[in-house]
Amino acid sequence: MSMRVIAVANQKGGVGKTTTVVNVAAALADQGRRVILMDFDPQAHLTTYVGTDPTAVERSSHDVLTGGASLGESLLGIREGISLLPASLDLAAAEQELVAVVGRETVLRDALAAFTEPYDYVFIDCPPSLGLLTLNALSAAREVFIPLQPHFLSLQGLSQLLESVMLVNQRINRDLKVTGLLFCMYDSRTSLSGEIVRDVEAFFAGQREAEVPWRDIRIFETRIRGNIKLAESPSYASTIFEYAPGCNGALDYASLAGEIEAMCGRGEAVAGQAEAAEKAGGASAALGRPSEPAMNEAEPEHGDAAVEATAACEPSAVEACEPCPAEAGATASDVAGGQAMEPVSEAAAGDSAGLGASEGLAEPPVGGSFAEAPSVMEGRDPVLRRGDEGGRRAMGTEPNGQGI
Ligand SMILES: Nc1ncnc2c1ncn2[C@@H]1O[C@H](COP(=O)(O)OP(=O)(O)OP(=O)(O)O)[C@@H](O)[C@H]1O
Ligand SMILES: [Mg+2]
Repeated sequence: MSMRVIAVANQKGGVGKTTTVVNVAAALADQGRRVILMDFDPQAHLTTYVGTDPTAVERSSHDVLTGGASLGESLLGIREGISLLPASLDLAAAEQELVAVVGRETVLRDALAAFTEPYDYVFIDCPPSLGLLTLNALSAAREVFIPLQPHFLSLQGLSQLLESVMLVNQRINRDLKVTGLLFCMYDSRTSLSGEIVRDVEAFFAGQREAEVPWRDIRIFETRIRGNIKLAESPSYASTIFEYAPGCNGALDYASLAGEIEAMCGRGEAVAGQAEAAEKAGGASAALGRPSEPAMNEAEPEHGDAAVEATAACEPSAVEACEPCPAEAGATASDVAGGQAMEPVSEAAAGDSAGLGASEGLAEPPVGGSFAEAPSVMEGRDPVLRRGDEGGRRAMGTEPNGQGI
C-alpha cells in the first residue's frame, strides 16, 4: 500500500483542520499505521497541540521549504507511530524567501519524492489562506480533505477552495483529487446544519459525471460533533484519545479514521477501535452519526462562543467521558479558542433561509476551466466575488500568467 499524502485544507479559519489532523493521526497510529504530520501553518497550532515548542525546534517545515534540511532529518518522533514536521515561527517568512525561487510551488513535492521511509499516511495541516504554503501542500498531495462547518458562509469558501484545487490540478499536479469532505463542529439541533449538509451532498452528487478533481469525493458519514473536550485537549498537549478517550470527540475521530482506512480497503480495525471507545465511554450515540439532540430542540444562543461551545456538547456524553488529566483547568476563553465556534449570524441564517442554502451551490462549475466557470456565488455578493479574485491573486493564478 503506497503512502497516502493528504492535504487538509480550507482557507476559512477555525473550521477544524488542525483538530482533525491531530486526532485522525492518533486514531490511525493506535491501529499500527505510521503517520507523518506536517505543520504548514505559521501559527504552529499543530506543533503546539502535540506538545512541541515551535520556538525550540531545530529543524522545521521552513527549513524543508527553503532547502536548509531534508524531510527525513527534520521529522520528530512524537508518539508511537507518529512523526511531526514541526512549524517554527519563521514559517511566515518562507513565502518571501521563496519569491525568486524557480519551482517554489513544488519544493515540498520534491522533498517527499526524495523521502523513502515507509509511512502509511502524510497529513499536511494547511494554514487558513491560499498562499504559497497551501500551494506547496496541494502540489505535493494526491488527496485533499476539506473540513467544513455547516454554516452558510462556509459554502462560498468552499467554492473558492475548489477553484484553487482545479487550477493546481490543471497546471501542476494532475494526480490531485478532493477525496473527502468532513463536517466539523456539527450541531444536529440546528436545522441549518441539516440544510447545509443536504445542499453540499446535492452539489457533489451533481458533479459525479463532470471532469473535475472532486467527482469521486466522499462526504464522510462521520460528522464531528461540537465537543468541548476537543477544544480543551490542546491545552494539555494531548490528543483526544489521551485526554478524554470516551467522549464524543474521540468516538467521532475514531469513526472517521475507520472511514479513511476503508477508502483504501482497510476499515475494520479502526472501526473496532471506535466500538471499544464507545464501550469505554458508554456514550449512547451511534458511531458515525451525529447523535440526536440530548438537550432541548431550541437553537443555542449565539454571541458567546464559549457558551455555545459548551452547549454543543451533549451532556450525556460529556458526563460519560473518562476522567481528564485536569478536568477543571481550562478556562472558557482557552476552550473557545478565539475563532472557535463562530456563531451563525442572524443575517447569514436569514440569507440561508431566504435563498435556500442550496442556491449557494446551485450552479456547479462543470468541466472545462473552473477559473472561467461562473462562481457558485456569482451575482449573489460582490464582496465575495472580490474575495475569489483575492484568492486567485494569493495563489498567483490571475490571468497575467504569473504564478502557477
Ligand atoms: N468538534 C469540535 N468541537 C468543539 N471545538 C472544536 C471542535 N473542533 C475544533 N474545535 C476548536 O475550534 C478551534 C478551531 O479548531 P482548529 O484549530 O482545529 O481549526 P483550524 O481550521 O485548524 O483553524 P486555523 O484555520 O486557525 O488553522 C480550536 O479552538 C479547537 O480546539
Ligand atoms: Mg489550524
